[in-house]
Amino acid sequence: MTCVAIVGTQWGDEGKGKLVDFLTERADMVARYQGGNNAGHTVKFQDKTFILHLIPSGVLRNKVSVIGNGAVVDPASLFAEIDELKNLDIPVEAHLKISNTAHLVMPYHRLFDQLREKVRGDEKVGTTGRGIGPTYTDKVARSGIRLIDLSDPNHFRKRLEAILPEKNCLLRYYFQENKEFSVDEICTEYLGYYEQLEPYLCDTSLLINNAIDQGQNILFEGAQGTFLDVDHGTYPFVTSSNTLSGGICAGCGVGPVKISKVVGIAKAYTTRVGSGPFPTELLDETGEFLRTEGAEFGATTGRPRRCGWFDAVMVRQSVRLNGITSLAITKLDVLDKFESIKIATSYQAPDGRTYTELPPLHNETLTPIYEEHPGWLCPTRHITEYDQLPAALISYLKRISELVNASISLISVGARREETIVPNPNLIWV
Ligand code: IMP
Repeated sequence: MTCVAIVGTQWGDEGKGKLVDFLTERADMVARYQGGNNAGHTVKFQDKTFILHLIPSGVLRNKVSVIGNGAVVDPASLFAEIDELKNLDIPVEAHLKISNTAHLVMPYHRLFDQLREKVRGDEKVGTTGRGIGPTYTDKVARSGIRLIDLSDPNHFRKRLEAILPEKNCLLRYYFQENKEFSVDEICTEYLGYYEQLEPYLCDTSLLINNAIDQGQNILFEGAQGTFLDVDHGTYPFVTSSNTLSGGICAGCGVGPVKISKVVGIAKAYTTRVGSGPFPTELLDETGEFLRTEGAEFGATTGRPRRCGWFDAVMVRQSVRLNGITSLAITKLDVLDKFESIKIATSYQAPDGRTYTELPPLHNETLTPIYEEHPGWLCPTRHITEYDQLPAALISYLKRISELVNASISLISVGARREETIVPNPNLIWV
């Protein structure tokens, strides 16, 4: 049995969807432990592109696909995703399981997410506007509503009656909106969802732990990335959950010693959507070239992603924060046309101080200290064996591995399943 965690080592969009899909071949179950439909996991196969927002990528391989208690669920968006998959003849009903204690994204969460961003003005986080932050805020404030709360209409109504006055007060007096949320309207909409949701609901901690006891292989699919983690990311420009591997324990109800491997996914360069610090960001034509070559546009919102060189300081930090046992490097093909490629190994502050870790607060601009590597200047997508990779690419990988203190178990040179090289399968599955 192997329980493998797949985590993003940067700011998300590292290619987790593709690699989870690839690794799912050997898995019996795939589980999401945090986030909601803010995620955008792109998977390509059979000449089709699937973008999954909430449902784990395992569903495309007909494996048990679990949305754990640590995730948040927007029913309307979930049903749209289920319908899309059904239209593609993917038997979602047979495989999808959702924790009955996952929290619901409510209409006021979506609205408050957008209104708060407006109020923040230039300081906006750049959220996906899906209501994720406000849903987690209410969960921690004990004002949230869980999926199981829909099973008892009286109880659900009472929860809403207790919660809505405060929401309406905020709406009217703080946000100055001439609108009110009605208990009746929300009851009609959300209680109507329950019949459709019920067949998927269960105690997913029990389900996962039983599977572990039976010796099954399980993948835990992280969403977003390490530096969007609410505790360890570039706060406040983060998402509202624990994206790190540590989030699996609380978000799926699984003990830490059950997780045998942690595979960190890192893009061969760096991208970020939304606001916040990004030391290696390239605001010039090189950044633009990376964006074009890598088709770096958000899978959820379509926003252009900010692009920059590989940041070894951050990925090394990520290896530590997640207990990463091996790394997968993705999108190497995007660098095929570069004559030289840079890696940031530390940062320098304006007063000359050198940083070898990303500091938690830095008001000044940090200048990355780069080392430069020769590019390989040839196409790599067709390559299926490690030994056939260009020597310059192999030395780029070796240098990354050295700088971040992690071995490389997987290499991705394109979006398709076949465009994956596995030099070290033993580092992934026991
Ligand atoms: P939220 O998760 O919608 O609250 O957004 C908070 C921050 O996380 C914003 O910078 C978003 O752009 C970013 N974010 C959320 N989900 C993803 C994702 O799947 N990929 C990359 N960035 C994300």
